[in-house]
Amino acid sequence: MTLVEVQFEPAGKIVFVSPGTTLLAAGTAAGIDIPCGCRRGMCGTDAVAVAPQEGMEPPGPVERSTLERMGLESVFRLSCSARVQSGIVRVDLDRF
Ligand code: FES
Repeated sequence: MTLVEVQFEPAGKIVFVSPGTTLLAAGTAAGIDIPCGCRRGMCGTDAVAVAPQEGMEPPGPVERSTLERMGLESVFRLSCSARVQSGIVRVDLDRF
C-alpha cells in the first residue's frame, strides 16, 4: 500500500499515513492537536484548508452539508470526516 504524505502548515510537520485516514487522525500522528467537537462531521469546529483536493476522498453527505451550511469555500474540509486518498496533501491550519 502506498502511503499518503500529509503536511501540516504552519507547524511544518509531515506524517505518512494509509489511504482512508482522517485528517484528524493524521494530525494526531503528527503531534498536531486539531480542535474538534462532535467528530461526526456536524459541528464544523475542525475545518481546515486542504490542497490539492485530488489527494482527498470526496466529502460524504454529512460533511458536505455542514460545509455548505457554514458557507465555506471548497478548499475547506472537516478534519474528523475528510479522508486522505493519495499523493501529497497540504493542510493549512491557519486559514479557518
Ligand atoms: S468535530 Fe464536529 S465536524 Fe468534525
